[in-house]
Amino acid sequence: MSNLKNDCFIKALLREPTNRTPIWIMRQAGRYLPEYREIRKSAGDFLSLCKNTELATEVTLQPIRRFPLDAAILFSDILTIPDAMGLGLYFNEGEGPKFESPITNSSQIDKLPTNIIDDLSYVTDAVSSIRKALDNSIPLIGFSGSPWTLSTYMVEGQSSKEFKKIKSLLYKDPIALHNLLDKLTITVIDYLNAQVESGAQVLQIFDTWGGILSDDAYLNFSLRYIKKVIDGLIKEYDNQKVPVIVFTKGGYPWLKKISECGCDAIGLDWSSNIRDAREQVGSKVALQGNMDPSILRSSISTIESEVQRILNSFGQHDANSGHVFNLGHGITPDVDPKHVSALVEAVKKFSTDFHS
Ligand code: CP3
Repeated sequence: MSNLKNDCFIKALLREPTNRTPIWIMRQAGRYLPEYREIRKSAGDFLSLCKNTELATEVTLQPIRRFPLDAAILFSDILTIPDAMGLGLYFNEGEGPKFESPITNSSQIDKLPTNIIDDLSYVTDAVSSIRKALDNSIPLIGFSGSPWTLSTYMVEGQSSKEFKKIKSLLYKDPIALHNLLDKLTITVIDYLNAQVESGAQVLQIFDTWGGILSDDAYLNFSLRYIKKVIDGLIKEYDNQKVPVIVFTKGGYPWLKKISECGCDAIGLDWSSNIRDAREQVGSKVALQGNMDPSILRSSISTIESEVQRILNSFGQHDANSGHVFNLGHGITPDVDPKHVSALVEAVKKFSTDFHS
C-alpha cells in the first residue's frame, strides 16, 4: 500500500494485521536526552527552537537515531495556535507556558482571529523538512491540542491545577465558551489539514484536560468539538488514509463515546485497564498506550515485566485489532535514556507472541 519502509504503526492504527506491536513515546523528543538539552541551549528558548526549521527537524530525529521507534512526531507545541491568535505565548526558564494576554472577557473572544494559518508557516515548514529527512523510513505524526484543552490555557493564562477561571466561564457564560470553542475548532481543522498537506501521515489530538470535566461538560465542551474537528479533516492524502488518534487524559469514563467520534484510535492514560478498554470499544478503534511514565524511573526488569503485563492484558490479536504501545502520558525529563532503550526493545521482543 504505502512506500513506507516501516508501516507497522499505520497498520496497527487501521486495525490491519502486523507481526508485532509498534511503539512510539509521547514527548519522545525532549529534556531527558542530553543531545536535546544541547540544541535547546544553542536555540536560546523553547519557542525559538520550534520556529527554527533546521533545529526542529534535528530534535525530532534525535530519539529516532537512538531508539528503533515506529513513528516520529513533529517537534512543536499545542500552544502555537493561541500564540498565532495573538495571546503572546512565552516560557520563562524552568516554568510552564504563559500568555501575555489571556482571555478575560467575551468581547476579547469576539475579536479573536481565526484566519491564522499564515502565521503558522514555521510549523508546516518543519513538517515538510522532517518528512523529507525521514525519507519514508517511518511515518510522521502531526498534532494539535483539542479545542477544549487549548481554551483552558487561553483562559487560565498558564498551566493550572484547579481550573477555576475556565470552569467559572463554563458555568457562568457557556455561550461565550462555545463561541471560543467554535473559533478554535476552525483553527484546529485548518492547522491539522495544513500539516497533512505538508507531509504529516497520522494526526493526534491532545485533549490533556478533558478529564477534569463532569460527564455532561465533557460531552458538550470537549468531545463535541473533537468530533467537529475530525469531521473537517482530510481523510485521505496521496492515496493514503490519514489515521486520527484522540488522547483524552482521564478519558476512561467515555471510551465508548470517544470510539464513536470518527477517530481511528484512542490514546489511553495509565489509569485505564487496556483489556477492559478493548472489551468496551471492540474492533471499532485501535488503542494506544498505556504504561505509567513513572515506571521508566524504576529498573529495567520492572520495565520489562510491565511491558509483558500490558501486552498480556491487551491479549492475542485478531484480524481486526490494533494496539500501539506508548506511555499513558509524556515522558519526564528525569528518565535515563537506557531505560527507554529497554522499553522499546522489550515491546519489540515480547509482542511477537501476541500476533499470529
Ligand atoms: O511528543 C513530542 O516529542 C513532540 C513535541 C511536543 C511538545 N509539546 C514539546 C514540548 C508535544 C506533542 C507537545 C504537546 C503539548 N504541549 C501538550 C499536550 C501533551 C501533554 O503533555 O499533555 C501540552 C499540554 C503542552 C503545553 C506545554 N508545553 C507545557 C505544559 C509545557 C511545559 C512542560 C514542561 O515539562 O516543562 C510545554 C513545553 C514543552 N513542549 C517542552 C517540550 C519538549 C519542554 C520545553 C523545554 O523547556 O525544552
